[in-house]
Amino acid sequence: MPAVTEVVVAGGADIYYRDRYWNDLPRVVEYLNERATGAPHPGWMHHLLAIRGEPFERALVLNSGNGWVERELIRLGVVHSAVGVEHQPALVEQARSEAEAAGLPATYVQLDTNTGAFPDGPYDLVVNHAAGHHIAYLDRVFRRVAELLPPNGILASWDYVGPHRNQYPAALWEAAWYVNRQLPERFRSQMVYDDVADMIAGDPSEAVHSELLLGVINRYFEVFHHRDLGGPIGYLLLTHNAALLDAAEDEAAELVEQILAADTALVEADPSMNLFAYVLGRPRKSVLEDAAQLSRWTAEEDERELRAAANGGRYYQPTLIAELTAALRRAESALASGTEPTAPTRNRRREARPSLLRALRRVAGAKLGGAGAQPG
Ligand SMILES: C[S@@+](CC[C@H](N)C(=O)[O-])C[C@H]1O[C@@H](n2cnc3c(N)ncnc32)[C@H](O)[C@@H]1O
Repeated sequence: MPAVTEVVVAGGADIYYRDRYWNDLPRVVEYLNERATGAPHPGWMHHLLAIRGEPFERALVLNSGNGWVERELIRLGVVHSAVGVEHQPALVEQARSEAEAAGLPATYVQLDTNTGAFPDGPYDLVVNHAAGHHIAYLDRVFRRVAELLPPNGILASWDYVGPHRNQYPAALWEAAWYVNRQLPERFRSQMVYDDVADMIAGDPSEAVHSELLLGVINRYFEVFHHRDLGGPIGYLLLTHNAALLDAAEDEAAELVEQILAADTALVEADPSMNLFAYVLGRPRKSVLEDAAQLSRWTAEEDERELRAAANGGRYYQPTLIAELTAALRRAESALASGTEPTAPTRNRRREARPSLLRALRRVAGAKLGGAGAQPG
């Protein structure tokens, strides 16, 4: 039996359902629906029901959070009942009591998806809604999902599938930065590039292997519906952007359209820039019989996790923008505190600093504030 490393999860539930994302805008929901199903309304749940042709009996919902997904699936008649699995006790409690209060047949088990035993089936549907990008042991988990579904059962996945820990490549960051610059200044995103160490400290499960998710799903499922949902411009510029999220409809509508048009154009020009996907598949039972292949995948995953555990939770090399952003932050804090930056000599620092800071600002799209704005 291969080694099971300790799996890290967030220290509390309060980090979930607190931020504001691009899909808080109704227009973005329409955009996503259209990409996922071909129509702006009524959305993926109805689409799933239409594909099935009749309600599912019982769904397993991965990392079910506050439970809104399964409550909605039951209310809409997509599924008769559901079982949610979730690690955060407070969210399990919230989901359980909201289902009880609404009289809906949703039950819950508190467990770690990476290592826990899923509650007994049968299930004819497994739902991954914004869950897979929080799973470290993707191979192990989606293999178990393929095992527990019957051959005509369905995996429905709606998730972030972009770069792990939101470490976007420079070309994607620059494309979003360019569109951002076209917006009136007060509607621009701050475009803060996520710091991996901060992310690991805040929620070590966040986007832990998001970029591997589609590959693993395709290993274990015959995907019959896959739609890229976009996101490289829209998600980056609208998420956390209070000015646009709070703007009056007549003020924001045109800018949101501009952003979404750029989003579509970029994903069409280069599908590798896509950040979100909607996927439906049926289990590929034959793969589950290939013992040699399965043990290779297990070994690969265990080795990766052991390596990351020994490396403070880091899986990959830093990106260019990550390094530039870190350099900018070091320079910023040195300027703010009046301490010496790390440049080797005073003269060299004088020559190098203004152009370096200008270049960093340009590439990272970040803003220097206060005293830090005056190099010298
Ligand atoms: C982005 S939220 C999505 C929640 C829900 N599926 C939804 O769409 O609203 C991710 C969820 O994954 C849960 N989670 C993270 N790591 C987990 C783990 N190892 N086992 C079970 N749940 C986990 C978090 O507690 C959180 O509720």
